[in-house]
Amino acid sequence: MILSSPISLPFGSANVSFFPEGTTAALRREAPPSQTIVITDENIARLHASLLADFRKIVVPAGEDSKSPEILCRVAAECLRLGADRQTLLLGVGGGMISDLTGFVAAVFMRGISCAFAPTTILAMVDAAWGGKNGINLGETKNILGTIRQPLFGMHLPDTLPTLPETEWANGFAEILKYGCISEPEMLDFLEEKDLSFFQKNATETAALVARCVHIKSRFVQADEHETGIRRYLNFGHTLGHAIERQCHLSHGAAVGLGMLFAARLSAQLCGLSPEAENRIERLLERYQLPTHQKLDIDKTLSQMQKDKKRTGREVLFVLLEAIGKPRAQPVSWDALRDFLQNDPRWT
Ligand SMILES: NC(=O)c1ccc[n+]([C@@H]2O[C@H](COP(=O)([O-])OP(=O)(O)OC[C@H]3O[C@@H](n4cnc5c(N)ncnc54)[C@H](O)[C@@H]3O)[C@@H](O)[C@H]2O)c1
Repeated sequence: MILSSPISLPFGSANVSFFPEGTTAALRREAPPSQTIVITDENIARLHASLLADFRKIVVPAGEDSKSPEILCRVAAECLRLGADRQTLLLGVGGGMISDLTGFVAAVFMRGISCAFAPTTILAMVDAAWGGKNGINLGETKNILGTIRQPLFGMHLPDTLPTLPETEWANGFAEILKYGCISEPEMLDFLEEKDLSFFQKNATETAALVARCVHIKSRFVQADEHETGIRRYLNFGHTLGHAIERQCHLSHGAAVGLGMLFAARLSAQLCGLSPEAENRIERLLERYQLPTHQKLDIDKTLSQMQKDKKRTGREVLFVLLEAIGKPRAQPVSWDALRDFLQNDPRWT
């Protein structure tokens, strides 16, 4: 069944329309080409040209490097050249890089215009396109410039998934496993019975899993849009993940998966996570084709973590697990982090 009518989901300051199974026709209805400028990357522009026909388009190079101040300025200049005004809708069509870049441009262009997203990666469908956070990197420091701006809608385009490379499927499952770890242990039971190829072959199950994740994200953001409380739990795996993503040239999901494993090890030492739960997270990462070890330059990793938004002087706030489904945020000292990294063969 095609669900082209939206579900209204609360995300803090706004209700956002969620289209679980969008189509080309629905996209044109919600984002009329005459009022819309599409921001996309070169892969989507090439692979899904017919979807984007008739739209004014700004095409940026694919990859994380496009989340930069230089590309941001180039996109804003292109918006001006294409005649954007305060009534223009910026529509990001692509993965999380595109939703972050589009959301940021929309937040600052003419002091703020509307945006919407049509995510085309699993990662953006379950996470990046939702919640209003966007970010631009400065060198190796992830998302250090950013705003919070809710989109008008998020329209999933399942018809774009057949072209998504296998590694990008795995990338997206890291964030799905994160939701299971912090809030829905039953979802991990389900994921333990399935694997990537099951979801790649089964569009209905994928759509249902994605929708489940969007609802989880809505619950966290609705309770704490500005991340002063429980929204922090969504950063499980991200403190180490962000520090190593650019340094080690990893995808966001692979880096977050490694970060979850590190946080699980810290949790076992600092707040009683059982060894079985730690092993379970590792096995799930393997099952979904995500890495479970990575040689790190520990000095560089710690110095990168010291630029994290969650640091406070001598400590950094880590999201840990007391048990699967029971997260907590706890400051951890730099000395302890160095010890944990140095004494675990996964990182050396
Ligand atoms: N704002 C948030 O709340 C939030 C949350 C999680 C992640 N993020 C950000 O999201 C980014 C990662 O997103 P991502 O993993 O989607 O990466 P991405 O946007 O770079 O996409 C990964 C690759 O997949 C390609 N691609 C996308 N859709 C495709 C399709 N349907 N078919 C073929 N190729 C396709 C892209 O061209 C790119 O090469 C990171 O910058 C991360 O920081 C933001």
